[in-house]
Amino acid sequence: MPALHTEGVTAGYGKTPIITDISVDAEVGRVTTIIGPNGAGKSTFAKALVGILKPMAGRILVNDVDVTRMPGHEIPRHGLAYVPQNDNVFKRMSVRENLEIGGFVHKGDSSARIAELFEIFPDLGKAHTKKAGLLSGGQQNLLAIARALMAKPSVIVLDEPTAGLSPAYTSVVWEQVARIATLNTAVVVVEQNVERALKHSDYVHIFVAGRDHVHGTAADISQLDLPSIFLGRSHAASTT
Ligand SMILES: Nc1ncnc2c1ncn2[C@@H]1O[C@H](COP(=O)(O)OP(=O)(O)OP(=O)(O)O)[C@@H](O)[C@H]1O
Ligand SMILES: [Mg+2]
Repeated sequence: MPALHTEGVTAGYGKTPIITDISVDAEVGRVTTIIGPNGAGKSTFAKALVGILKPMAGRILVNDVDVTRMPGHEIPRHGLAYVPQNDNVFKRMSVRENLEIGGFVHKGDSSARIAELFEIFPDLGKAHTKKAGLLSGGQQNLLAIARALMAKPSVIVLDEPTAGLSPAYTSVVWEQVARIATLNTAVVVVEQNVERALKHSDYVHIFVAGRDHVHGTAADISQLDLPSIFLGRSHAASTT
């Protein structure tokens, strides 16, 4: 069973579902990316995964444990970490303090884990005493990711980790995302930029109007008529 397995997840904010019948698997060592037009339900799916929204139907399994009905605060303990789209660091705390807070789920020595993370994110190591609010937007996003990794999650969900970043820093963040997948973690990314998603992901799902319109390997997906799909004109079947 993959580290993350979802089956028929339907969720929304009121009685009307925003996402319907979503089944996504994410495996350790791989980057699984959700793309799709604005308002397609990508962030809603991320929120349903991590317990912020309770699904109306379907199941979410993390390492074979059913977390669907668990209170949100218990879910990280089962190996699922989440980095929201905005406001993802404590701006008045230092880089190191942000990481220490992220380490609360992880039993053991947080300083050893922080040292490991500073090897992966050398810019954060250099700025470890700096207030997080004084970092660039890109570095704040990396800090948020590093904080989530403190708990050694088996699955990390990143909602638009490159939103608002310069092209150069976008590449830096994507390189880190690829590297995280090698740390015994399944990475689920929500991304706006289709080209980047296809370049850096192993597996891609395209959400359109709350449905998983099509999914497949990045190579398969890049063969499709993506502009038509994004405009809702194509009814391509799943490539799998
Ligand atoms: N808190 C909320 N309450 C009610 N409706 C919401 C809420 N958040 C989002 N929605 C609605 O749910 C739909 C899907 O939004 P969602 O944020 O999941 O889309 P998205 O694919 O992440 O879009 P984007 O690419 O703009 O981030 C939209 O119609 C949006 O208006
Ligand atoms: Mg979103």
